[in-house]
Amino acid sequence: MAQGFTLWFTGLSGAGKTTLTEALLPELRARGVNIEVLDGDEVRTNLSKGLGFSKEDRDTNIRRIGYVARLLSRNGVGVIAAAISPYREIRDEVRASIEGEGVKFVEVFVHASLDTLVSRDVKGLYKKAIAGEIKQFTGVSDPYEEPLAPEVRVSSDNETVAESAAKIIAKLEALNLVAPLSAKAGGAQ
Ligand code: ADX
Repeated sequence: MAQGFTLWFTGLSGAGKTTLTEALLPELRARGVNIEVLDGDEVRTNLSKGLGFSKEDRDTNIRRIGYVARLLSRNGVGVIAAAISPYREIRDEVRASIEGEGVKFVEVFVHASLDTLVSRDVKGLYKKAIAGEIKQFTGVSDPYEEPLAPEVRVSSDNETVAESAAKIIAKLEALNLVAPLSAKAGGAQ
């Protein structure tokens, strides 16, 4: 059975978690990884439908994502989880439950400065949050606890999507979770 893993993205809304996921999918598939995505926005329309943004609801959302990631990744699937996951303690709890299955948990801190996020404001949410129209907005009026020792740190402030994706692939290769493309293509053994 292929070796599963969980690639866990954490970072503020708009930092690039979903964009990076989309960039990584073809790269990972080309390397023969059976991959599944658990994206916060998407999960909140089904598995976590009805949950809000209180600490309690966010923790429930993250525990659910972690639970599904554990089931899949212990069965050979490469899982990308992409939710803000603002609380360190819950991320570490999910890490422990996945590593407890003997599965690698690779935490990726997707960083972007608040200045960048506010000026980009793709969904128009920061403007509303700053105006007080959205309460408890992560990074503006609700906490975000940065990872202390993520396996990978990328920053959309000063890296292109391709550069960030390459850093993540390099880490997965270094951990022997994915094969380099040349080996997969049947190059020199
Ligand atoms: S998490 O905190 O539970 O990990 P999740 O990643 O699922 O959050 O959802 C975040 C998305 O919900 C954001 O990208 C944004 O589109 C939307 N959202 C709506 N309200 C909030 C809020 N108060 N704080 C953060 N994101 C919000």
